[in-house]
Amino acid sequence: MEQRGKWGTNLGFLLAAIGSAVGLGNIWRFPYVAYENGGGAFLIPYFVALLTAGIPILMLEFALGHHKEASAPKAFRHIDAKWEWLGWWAVLFVMFGIELYYIVIIGWCANYMRFSLTMAWGDDPNSFFNEFLATGDPGDIWGVTGLQWSIVIAVALVWLINWGITYGGIQKGIERAVKVMMPILLLVTVAIVVWALFLEGAGKGVKHYVTPDFNKITDLKVWIAAYGQIFFSLSLGFGIMIAYSSYLSRDANIFKNSLIVGFANSSYEVFAGFGVFSILGYMATRQGKEIGDVVAESLGLAFVVYPEAISMLPYGRLFGVLFFFLLAVAGVSSSISIIEAFTAAVQDKFGFGRRKVVTAICLVGFAGSFLFTTNVGLFWLDIVDHFLNHYGLIVVGIVEALVVGWLYKTHRLKAHIVANLGLSGTRHKVFNYVVLQLWMYCIRFITPVALGIAIVHSLIGELATPYAGYPISGVIVLGVGWLLVTHVFAFGLSGLPWRGHPLD
Ligand code: PHE
Repeated sequence: MEQRGKWGTNLGFLLAAIGSAVGLGNIWRFPYVAYENGGGAFLIPYFVALLTAGIPILMLEFALGHHKEASAPKAFRHIDAKWEWLGWWAVLFVMFGIELYYIVIIGWCANYMRFSLTMAWGDDPNSFFNEFLATGDPGDIWGVTGLQWSIVIAVALVWLINWGITYGGIQKGIERAVKVMMPILLLVTVAIVVWALFLEGAGKGVKHYVTPDFNKITDLKVWIAAYGQIFFSLSLGFGIMIAYSSYLSRDANIFKNSLIVGFANSSYEVFAGFGVFSILGYMATRQGKEIGDVVAESLGLAFVVYPEAISMLPYGRLFGVLFFFLLAVAGVSSSISIIEAFTAAVQDKFGFGRRKVVTAICLVGFAGSFLFTTNVGLFWLDIVDHFLNHYGLIVVGIVEALVVGWLYKTHRLKAHIVANLGLSGTRHKVFNYVVLQLWMYCIRFITPVALGIAIVHSLIGELATPYAGYPISGVIVLGVGWLLVTHVFAFGLSGLPWRGHPLD
């Protein structure tokens, strides 16, 4: 049986984990969420969420994967065979859900790099985006008329890159790739942010981004937004961090690694926000509008607002190519981590060789991505994304915290973390009895309660009106259906006999 992979260095691991965390969510989602939820004042709930749920769950996932030297299904099976399904469910709906459309979006970015060269969107980026996707009427969610070939080709290319990287394994594939990608990501981000900060009107945008509205922090919604952002942004509940840390050397310092990854990811998104809002400030100034009239998030920000800005900017073409390149690199360093989380799970359980597994899942994944490259792809993507993020990831997070906190008992992982801290005397005691004690409280109480409130809140909204006004059949089949079908597969897989790496 193939040996389990290993990171060459702790730095390689850190770059890969930060690469997974820093993704599209950091660039196009965080700035908007912060702006909507109190600007500078949002940083308070945001950092509370980072400290009470983000870093604690990250530390839980790192410690679990490292301690058990196992992917998510195997790690949970170790705790109790009854919970193996949880690990499978996470890696299944992430791999055959989030990954399928995430790669399609990276494919759009690739196309938009090309469009930037000619500013192909002319003076109407919104209509252009809809034509590019051949989007029709959201009410006609089942009216598939065909594939968008320019997207299919880009998606094939992105899958090929993902396959090429993960095929090489941990050290020769992922670690080597992130050592190239992460410095590029940092450089291009700094270039874009600095460029943006010097634009006319940048100050106006930044002011909107950071001006604190302290009234908002008493609003429950703002807190839920903070926990939601932290969770997605740190790739928690994906099974990724469990797999990545299982390849660490035995003496790795889990505590330190968790802090580095947690703070690096948050610093990145707060920093990127300055660039995003400078551009918005520039646009608003040029068009004589208010920030509130130009601001947008996610797809709207990247594929409609930014093209508009690119058309106005001096050297806009270069800016456009750099910006979409940045999104693509941030995307790929995240998408490879999902493939790895699933590959590790299949290898652990069935003992198949990496190359076969990676090739098979990339082929199936490529086929699955077709679902999101039709004229209704955008709507399907929107629904699947909403349900997997709001329910899938959050449920995994809650159950993970409860299973480890109450069933497995957090102190066993705590002992594992303490053992590698390399501390002695008073410092050891402080860590053991104060810092890690607080960590246990977060896992056992704060995280499940905070995520529980978030999920109940989402559910209440869901029951009031079908998500985003789509036909209810679409919401049920694509949203609820996706969650249920992957669940059934998870149970199926966990019921199969164990053939891979021995369980103990
Ligand atoms: N943390 C990632 C982001 O912010 C989430 C993600 C991870 C998405 C891995 C896809 C794959 O975009």
